Amino acid sequence: GYRRRRERLLALNKDAARFFHEKLRAPEGRAGAEYLFQKRGLSPGVVTRFGLGVAPEGWDNLIQAMMEKGYTKRELLDAGLAVDNKKGRIYDRFRNRVMFPIIDLRGEVIGFGGRVLDDSTPKYLNSPDTVIYNKSRNLFALNIAKKSKQGRIILTEGYMDTLSLHQAGFDCAVASLGTSLTQEHAQLLSRYTKEAVIAYDGDGAGMKAAQRAIPILEKTGIQVKVLQMRGAKDPDEFIKKYGREAFAKLLDQSENHIEYRLRQIQVKYDLSDDAQKVEFLRESAAMLSTLPSPVEREIYGGRAAQAAGISPQAMAQEIQREYQRRL
Ligand code: CTP
Ligand code: MN
Ligand code: MN
Ligand code: MN
Ligand code: MN
Repeated sequence: GYRRRRERLLALNKDAARFFHEKLRAPEGRAGAEYLFQKRGLSPGVVTRFGLGVAPEGWDNLIQAMMEKGYTKRELLDAGLAVDNKKGRIYDRFRNRVMFPIIDLRGEVIGFGGRVLDDSTPKYLNSPDTVIYNKSRNLFALNIAKKSKQGRIILTEGYMDTLSLHQAGFDCAVASLGTSLTQEHAQLLSRYTKEAVIAYDGDGAGMKAAQRAIPILEKTGIQVKVLQMRGAKDPDEFIKKYGREAFAKLLDQSENHIEYRLRQIQVKYDLSDDAQKVEFLRESAAMLSTLPSPVEREIYGGRAAQAAGISPQAMAQEIQREYQRRL
């Protein structure tokens, strides 16, 4: 039945994870091991804690090993570990990649991400959604971060960002898995924390993704903050360049999501120009009018008013007007 099938796939994933992990010590896993330890600077502790591994070069290393253990081709396909071509031949999905197992809250291996060792594409391959894996409902490293005593979750874009943060002592880091944050992710996070700090990449894509993630997190009642990445493109690179203390400082300076959004609006306008000032106030009022809390609307409305040199009352009216407009 369904239960039995699920259990078989979970067992297969666990055996696959073990296979990849053991390859770190095998000659055919040498390049992958060098990549993780030397090139990316991961410690043996983190590599072990996260069960990282390597899928060696070749078309069917994993398939052969798993079939020897009694798994079928059908199961390998169903787990997303193998793919078939039109002629009915099957081959390993993950070849010549370093492997990141995705582990759920019960400790089961439900999927994998795999990265190339150079700059070929696609850079990352992920397990497809399967009977046991749904990328919209799972976050990388939440199985570990849920036990953190740091009182917040740090939300990153990537596997390597999360691993670097854990290695630097930030054991509350998680990543969404090659997908934008969903309401289900946010709901899940809200069961474990009151505060989420978005620490996405500092590029345009990361900033856009942060803007999208904010209201999704807000809806669950989590306090949302945004960390401003500077001097590096992502948390992994930042920590390598500047160290953990510097990252702790960024974390301290991370802004409340409303301050963040107001500032994002403000940088687009020249407030010494009256027409632009009006636009700034209008856009700010539109954003603030979506806030569920009247107290927050008043506080941050006042702040925008001050920045533009108008009265808080006028701003409150503008927010009210934007609110009516949306009804
Ligand atoms: N991603 C993906 N597929 C890709 C590229 C990215 O699934 N082809 C996902 C991965 O989970 C990746 C995250 O998006 O970790 C962030 O992408 P990116 O910033 O490009 O990669 P990094 O995590 O910074 O990877 P690295 O440092 O190894 O280059
Ligand atoms: Mn990115
Ligand atoms: Mn809020
Ligand atoms: Mn990176
Ligand atoms: Mn990145």
